[in-house]
Amino acid sequence: MKAIAVLPGKPNTVHLRDVPKPILNGKDSGRSVLVKVLRVGVDGTDKEINAAEYGEAPSGDDFLIIGHESFGRVEAVGPNVTELKPGDYVVATVRRPGSSIYDQIGTNDMTTDDTYFERGINLRHGFLAEYYLDDAEFIVKVPQGLKHVGVLLEPTTVVEKGIAQAYEIQRRLRVWRPRRAAVMGAGTIGLLATLVLRLRGLEVTTFGLTPRPYLNSDLIEAIGARYQSTRELPILEAAKKYGPFDLIFEATGASSVVFDSMQALAKNGVLVLSSVTGGDRKIEVPADMINLQFVLGNKVMVGTVNANREYFEMGVRDMAQAEAEYPGWLSRLLTHPVKGLENYSELLDKLTSAKGAIKVFCEVAEL
Ligand code: BGC
Ligand code: ZN
Repeated sequence: MKAIAVLPGKPNTVHLRDVPKPILNGKDSGRSVLVKVLRVGVDGTDKEINAAEYGEAPSGDDFLIIGHESFGRVEAVGPNVTELKPGDYVVATVRRPGSSIYDQIGTNDMTTDDTYFERGINLRHGFLAEYYLDDAEFIVKVPQGLKHVGVLLEPTTVVEKGIAQAYEIQRRLRVWRPRRAAVMGAGTIGLLATLVLRLRGLEVTTFGLTPRPYLNSDLIEAIGARYQSTRELPILEAAKKYGPFDLIFEATGASSVVFDSMQALAKNGVLVLSSVTGGDRKIEVPADMINLQFVLGNKVMVGTVNANREYFEMGVRDMAQAEAEYPGWLSRLLTHPVKGLENYSELLDKLTSAKGAIKVFCEVAEL
């Protein structure tokens, strides 16, 4: 079968290759599920992998099949799989268990191991192929009515985890009535965070660089949130005008925004950090003041990465609610389809340079 792969360690090696189709093996297939891939989204992580900044091949191979934002249809299941059947639409989780205690209890997104096993990212092949095989434990069913937007589930889970963790942490307050939220960044993750916070009933201000109006600001306003360009009003000034914020979700990819966010946070507030910043930027910050406000205001800051099955299930429920409350909104994020695995270079080109792209994805097969 065809697959899109890179040669880890060497920059710009993305290519199409022929690999053996995985097979479900009779009596040994146990809890295995064979999935036909329909769509796969790409993001900044794929860019980094193709730039050889991150990512390793599985042992025994010198290539890594990329793609971690999957959507597919079950083709066949092993004899011990009762929860899925051929024809079901599914999305696979990304990280596979390591050895820490968190991995052992099914929360491998919280691993304390230094090595991550992530499909399409590190040491495990990904989903940009015609088929994949995995254990039912890592495969989440998506209702038929969400199939047109199912490829957005994996990025949604990153948001679900961050927000669920924030609410979990805030149980420290016994009573927490968050009213105002801010989302830093209006890219795919920022848009999805805005959606999930709107579904929770919060007043949301989402910050981006670009002055409105453009597609992303239109999308934000379409779900009753406010869009604010930081070129027109810097974060700290906006916080005076619209804040302070009880919950802030940071997803700009720029670490300096974290320190502005710390200052824009309300007393008892929670700041969620989700940007994977690979650089080594240094900045000067008003450290005494930020620290004092954090101490006197009982504020919390938490980092979040990846998502386990629980957050995939939450994501499915929120996407269904979103379709009911804001019909058609999720589909508007699917801006840049690329047909067929063989068009892998177009896929990567769009990912790196398409103007106005929200979600670039490969249509591997018909839905
Ligand atoms: C993926 C996560 C993953 C993270 C770090 C992100 O792009 O969506 O699932 O854990 O990269 O590798
Ligand atoms: Zn990702």
